[in-house]
Amino acid sequence: MSAKREVILSGIRPTGRLHFGNYFGAIQSFIRLQDGDADCYYFIADYHALTTITERREIYRATLDMLKTYVACGLDPARSVIYRQSDLPCTAELSLLLGMVTNIGHLERGTTYKDKLSRLEADPKVEGNPLSFGLLGYPVLMAADILIVKADMVPVGDDQRQHVEMACDIAQKFNHRFGETLKIPRPVSREAVRIPGLDGSGKMGKSDNNTLDLLDDPKTVLKKIKGVETSTDPLDLDTDSDAPEMVLPKMPPGVGVLYYLLNLLAPEEVYLDFLGKYRRKEKFYGMLKNTLAEYVNQFNAPIIEKYNDPANSDESIEAFLRANAEKVTPVALDTVEACRMAMGIGHSLYRA
Ligand code: TYM
Repeated sequence: MSAKREVILSGIRPTGRLHFGNYFGAIQSFIRLQDGDADCYYFIADYHALTTITERREIYRATLDMLKTYVACGLDPARSVIYRQSDLPCTAELSLLLGMVTNIGHLERGTTYKDKLSRLEADPKVEGNPLSFGLLGYPVLMAADILIVKADMVPVGDDQRQHVEMACDIAQKFNHRFGETLKIPRPVSREAVRIPGLDGSGKMGKSDNNTLDLLDDPKTVLKKIKGVETSTDPLDLDTDSDAPEMVLPKMPPGVGVLYYLLNLLAPEEVYLDFLGKYRRKEKFYGMLKNTLAEYVNQFNAPIIEKYNDPANSDESIEAFLRANAEKVTPVALDTVEACRMAMGIGHSLYRA
């Protein structure tokens, strides 16, 4: 008998354009993993987007655009099942069932929740939505996304590590209380990264206005990169190592981000050449910014071209998403049914 194939699942909220944090934190792994022999499920998390978007047209448009961006980046619809979260409404039922074993205190300690809470307290209008049950329950819905397809692995950026841990905890609690029902995924890989924002902050993020986007045109790229704060003169790096993880934290935050991105996008010799200039304390920040902008544009150009392919009509995208949701539905219904049975609700009771 052939060994069962591993299942890989991940999702991205359709909240505007994808940025370099999304790409290097998540999509790059999605693309690599679809070349392996696992079943890959990548979805567009439109339920989750409701925690921040309130405009119905915006969310619909962003969902269709997200599919185009996924494909333009290299996700292959023939090798990955790409679907829309809300086309699998049984996820919401599983989330409800999982909520029964989830402690509120556990959710209140979530770092993303605490961060959103402090932003909302500072400016109640900041994200469009009030502090909602949906926001508090965000990790439970995310657990449902993961557990419903019986995922083994969840490729995400480092910022989502805690959410995946919560999903594992919730599944373990469920199994403990109702018997072995849910598959527990592996923890997020130690290699998961966190891409810094252009403002030098720890994380590039949609709500921080500090992103470099995959669909940014050359003018926008240059403007954003020129705007990175580099007024501080080079500091002593205090190490002979050239490794980014050793030197970047010792640079002023804005400069560190420029080098971080250069290291991701440019050949090693270009990164090392600019590191040499930094060590010699030459005047070069203007040149560094122009060079980086060129590499960003080279990276973005093919993505923008594929994204604008006129073959992608809204109707064809819509039909594609629905057909893919149908591929995921059998395994999803099977999981929900198993949970109903384990908990003793609905008609499952009479079947047991
Ligand atoms: P979202 O939309 O915030 O981000 C999508 C993916 O991009 C990664 N990411 C980053 N990685 C590194 N550095 C950054 N600066 C950065 N910014 C974003 C995120 O880690 C993520 O992998 N909750 C999820 C969506 C989701 C999900 C799921 C993911 C819903 N259900 C189930 C996996 C499994 C989110 O908010 O992603």
